[in-house]
Amino acid sequence: MKKTIKDYQLENKKVIIRVDFNVPMKEGIITDDTRIKRAIPTIKYAIENGAKVILLSHLGKVKEESDLQKNDLYPVSIRLQELIEKEVFFSNKTRGKELEEKVSSLKKGEILLIQNTRYEDLIGKKESTCNEELAKYWASLGDIFINDAYGTCHRKHASNVGIANYLPSGIGFLVEEEINKIDGILEEDTHPFVVIMGGAKVHDKIKVIKNLIQKCDLLLIGGGMAYTFLAARNYPIGKSILDEESMEFCKEILSTYEEKIILPIDHLVSGSITSDKVSIKRICDTTELDMGFDIGPQTIQLFKEKLSSAKRVIINGPMGCFENPNYQEGTKEIYQYLTDNHIKTLVGGGDSAASVNQLSNPNKFYHISTGGGATLEYLEGTVLPGISVIDEKK
Ligand code: 3PG
Repeated sequence: MKKTIKDYQLENKKVIIRVDFNVPMKEGIITDDTRIKRAIPTIKYAIENGAKVILLSHLGKVKEESDLQKNDLYPVSIRLQELIEKEVFFSNKTRGKELEEKVSSLKKGEILLIQNTRYEDLIGKKESTCNEELAKYWASLGDIFINDAYGTCHRKHASNVGIANYLPSGIGFLVEEEINKIDGILEEDTHPFVVIMGGAKVHDKIKVIKNLIQKCDLLLIGGGMAYTFLAARNYPIGKSILDEESMEFCKEILSTYEEKIILPIDHLVSGSITSDKVSIKRICDTTELDMGFDIGPQTIQLFKEKLSSAKRVIINGPMGCFENPNYQEGTKEIYQYLTDNHIKTLVGGGDSAASVNQLSNPNKFYHISTGGGATLEYLEGTVLPGISVIDEKK
């Protein structure tokens, strides 16, 4: 068992909390603040217990000078301030005198957010390569390190793994909740256990499929990735997305687990994603000019039948291009069926969480994970470096 923030005396301590404020932004405006909201319980607990809170987070990727402004964390400090209803100080520097002065003038119960940790990637990729000197430097700013950046736990960076080597460490409430919920649904012995997978590429999900297919009773496949499976079964897919390098894998898994894998029987097709000329076709009637963008009504019906007795469900990836109003129905109907029937459902993956927020009510699900890559790797059975580095309870 990992130590948590509750295992430490926080009064007057400088507590460094690694959060995942890697939120979607458009021209400096935050378009989804879920990750900020989900970090608040840990931050609140720390300030209520007399800590001086220092927050670290990355935002986007920093490869060249122009990425600095694009990935400035300052707007996040403003949003956090509104949500937490308390002043949030901001250090525009990731190291040096200005930062150190801000840290040393922090009083108990105050919060300081440090600029994007990936600013340190601009020269020498210090954050992303887990540079030791940088990790030691950040550790020198605090007394205790808490990792609450679940979405980043699959990365071995200076601000999550490196720093934990130099301070007493624990996990925050979000990381604790995420791993308890995912372990919980994977380990409980209730059946049928159904996995629903979607999203664009099979390739990114091969290891997850290999791991989950052994545990689940049924695997329903929708979204863009269904087409590589359909092609592997020799169905026509027209111009739909094909992940050629994963064909062999699809053939193999289909032959080993033939009865467990359910593929679409019809779909919504068009000549292109921008065209509004949409028709419903059986998969076997797909022509060379068709591109599929959502599962069709018969598939929705089939998936509902397969879900009717499910005791637990994991969803990873939407059923169609839900960002386009023409292709929301498949994803929306499946969510509605799961919530109307109170089926215990865990949603993992960045796109899936966004689709739930857009098309359904997140409160009706057992758990919506804040992780994309992290959840994918966790579901593969991988030990996440951001978690394994944290101190164990004695
Ligand atoms: C995520 O959004 O999945 C995490 O914040 C990790 O971001 P990254 O893929 O840029 O490392």
